[in-house]
Amino acid sequence: PCSPGAFHQDPNPNEPQASKDKAELRNYTEGKLLDRVYNTYLQMHTYQTVDFVRRKSAEYRGCSLRRMSAMQALELLDQLVDESDPDVDFPNSLHAYQTAEGIRRAHPDKDWFHLVGLLHDLGKVLVLFGEPQWAVVGDTFPVGCKVQKSVVFHDSTFHNNPDIRDPRYNTECGMYQPHCGLENVLMSWGHDGERGGHTETQNPLHGGAGGEDRSRPRRPPTYRPRRPLRVRGKFDLYTKQEDLPDVRELQGYYQALIDKYCPGELCW
Ligand SMILES: [Fe+2]
Repeated sequence: PCSPGAFHQDPNPNEPQASKDKAELRNYTEGKLLDRVYNTYLQMHTYQTVDFVRRKSAEYRGCSLRRMSAMQALELLDQLVDESDPDVDFPNSLHAYQTAEGIRRAHPDKDWFHLVGLLHDLGKVLVLFGEPQWAVVGDTFPVGCKVQKSVVFHDSTFHNNPDIRDPRYNTECGMYQPHCGLENVLMSWGHDGERGGHTETQNPLHGGAGGEDRSRPRRPPTYRPRRPLRVRGKFDLYTKQEDLPDVRELQGYYQALIDKYCPGELCW
């Protein structure tokens, strides 16, 4: 799941409020899915090491494994139930439409934002490429330094991770210099970092043509998520409800957005 982060007072009354009691969302201490969630994080926190992240990043860097459209990738998520998510027990493609529709209700004029909601978890197709869920889903965390208290299950899942006994990685800053900047921090490998394919054409989702690496969106220089990211987290979380969207009814609208912003086959 994606964390909503810290939200500021929001002036838009159409933005979603928690459908369940807020305390019931992202609850990692109780709930009917807790065992499944815990086991996914236990494996993630055992096997996500500095070495693993470097190897996986190198393996996928070239985006040369598959070619398919954004809609085809989204349809693959019909087959995926995210085992790290304590709030959702239905296919991820439906969560994608719920998020997109929540954004569309609150910001009807920003069609690019609707598409961001639809595609925000597309990196989870890695599971359908054969990667285990622990390497794809769930919250990411910095590797190469001491485990932070903000990490989900930080006190009960890292005991078999070899990095916590490695003196290069187990001090407060580990392999980093103080104030090095988030862009220099290595995060656990997964759907957030590897999201999306890339096209050969210029398009607004990839920020310009020529010269630069267009394989992923550019990161902001410091850890102050721009508002759409923070807001996106809110929709990601608060649109999780049991009323499932009618995908057949919505597909035409979103296909047109894909055709406008990221058309054709993408490289994955
Ligand atoms: Fe999500």
